[in-house]
Amino acid sequence: MKKNFFIAFEGIDGSGKSTQVKLLKEKLELAGLKVYTTCEPTDSPIGKMIRDIFNHRIEADHRTIAALFVADRLDHLLNKNNGILKMLDEGYTVITDRYYLSSYAYQSPYMDLEWVIKANSLSAGLLRPDLNIYIDIPPEISIERLNKGRTSIELYETLDNLRNVRDKYFEIIELLKNEEKVFIADGNKNPEAIAIGIWDKIFGQFLEETVN
Ligand code: ADP
Ligand code: TYD
Repeated sequence: MKKNFFIAFEGIDGSGKSTQVKLLKEKLELAGLKVYTTCEPTDSPIGKMIRDIFNHRIEADHRTIAALFVADRLDHLLNKNNGILKMLDEGYTVITDRYYLSSYAYQSPYMDLEWVIKANSLSAGLLRPDLNIYIDIPPEISIERLNKGRTSIELYETLDNLRNVRDKYFEIIELLKNEEKVFIADGNKNPEAIAIGIWDKIFGQFLEETVN
């Protein structure tokens, strides 16, 4: 039984990842675990550059964006201050809002999926999630939620693109079913109902033996 683990939340924009990261953190802390939450794009200089591109402050080709995500992810894992590997070493259970499956799903509509997977192989070799949690919502709901909370639309937040990305997620989950553990949560339910489903999965997989 591992004493701490690494969870990655995935889904299209507005699927409820950050809501569920917060709820899962609270539940894990109540169970006595030390929890570190984080996200991609990160707040490193590389992550900031990506956000500037997404907010249309600077312009870049999709291939450049794909490579920036590769670099941001390596820094997310390896940086000496609060890198994921360091936090896991210190006994934290780490939950990230997005990891390499996001790159596979968001970058592959624009370029070869095999390239994206290969370009991320250093990260996958360093650390695979013990569990990916994919929150599924229809792209129409995503757009509705994004329109409520925002005044500007980011680079990948169009209905057509999010339809492609959702299809890619399902394609990738099937393609990588022998390598990646993925739990699919129904993002149409209310946040607490989704959190209960996720908690049942996490408890059964990581905590049951510790508690009994
Ligand atoms: P993400 O991190 O995937 O972009 P958020 O957790 O920020 O998603 O949620 C996006 C928006 O949808 C927020 O306004 C949030 O309050 C709302 N929301 C989150 N989960 C649900 C849900 N299960 N049902 C309805 N609205 C939700
Ligand atoms: P994020 O801040 O998680 O957006 P949201 O909270 O709306 O889901 O991510 C910003 C954007 O970055 C989002 O549109 C998805 C995109 N993205 C990629 O294209 N590739 C990646 O590898 C990652 C991590 C994110």
